[in-house]
Amino acid sequence: METDEYAIWRTAPDASRLCYQHFLWRELFNGNIHPSIKLEDRQGLRIAEFAAGHCLWAMQVAQEFPLAAVEASDIDLNLVPPSSERPSNLSIAKWSFFDRVPEKWLGAFDLIHIRLLIQPFAGFQDPRPVLEKFVSMLKPGGYLQWDEYDYADADKGHVYSVDNPEHVPNPHETHNSSTRIWQLIMDTFGWPQEHFAKLSTYFTEAGLEEVQDHKIRPPPSVFRAFHEHWYALIAQLLPVLEAKDVTAGIEARKLVTQIREDSQRHGVFSAHITKFVVGRKRDDKSDARLLRSKL
Ligand SMILES: C[S@@+](CC[C@H](N)C(=O)[O-])C[C@H]1O[C@@H](n2cnc3c(N)ncnc32)[C@H](O)[C@@H]1O
Repeated sequence: METDEYAIWRTAPDASRLCYQHFLWRELFNGNIHPSIKLEDRQGLRIAEFAAGHCLWAMQVAQEFPLAAVEASDIDLNLVPPSSERPSNLSIAKWSFFDRVPEKWLGAFDLIHIRLLIQPFAGFQDPRPVLEKFVSMLKPGGYLQWDEYDYADADKGHVYSVDNPEHVPNPHETHNSSTRIWQLIMDTFGWPQEHFAKLSTYFTEAGLEEVQDHKIRPPPSVFRAFHEHWYALIAQLLPVLEAKDVTAGIEARKLVTQIREDSQRHGVFSAHITKFVVGRKRDDKSDARLLRSKL
């Protein structure tokens, strides 16, 4: 197993932040599985979540599909709920996606879910070799759903919301502390936002079809809640950032103060755009059936 880059974040505040964030993401389209994914008619349904953390997504999906076999794995299982509280159709395994894919998972799953994975690729690593592993674990016709924030578009004005637009006419220009700190975090930790902006292209290159890059602005009901999550994340990142780069740390502290002022004094809030990249592995059997039915 490779080094566990995520270890520094696996603390009580981070664990609760991740759980809170899960419930916010669930609000985006009132569910866990992207609405374009259809699993209802499938026999022997198998669903996997990798880098599952607290496994809330996998737990809820196991309850939604009681006949499915659901598997959740992570490089570290410290956030996993106790076995007595887990649905009986959910199994848990320790696995790093930098390791070899176990034989039993090759071509095994109807749906694979991945969420918020930029951090383990710190140092501007290319996620494509890992994407190929995920694709290798799909059944023909199986779906890959990969959820991330839209890191590359973080500077777009529409991620802001303002109490009084007359008082703050151009919040994305005058109150760019949130955007600046986002960039500072990406640069300091070497999170590969440019690769992640191309996820949908990488899906197509990896042979997935019906690829979608669905971006959703957090709706009003949870916009402020996403802002609070973002603020909590920055607060948690600050000491780590300072330890990595003193100059970046000094700038980040000023920016955090500015973000607080922006919200408290000027009513400027920011919530990042979320994106759902979905693709489907080619199903040669159904293609052949379709062709036969047309002949
Ligand atoms: C930001 S958290 C996201 C957790 C969960 N997917 C969610 O949406 O709440 C990133 C997760 O990736 C896991 N992780 C980091 N490196 C990993 C690796 N090499 N293989 C598997 N999981 C890894 C961490 O342990 C952590 O649970």
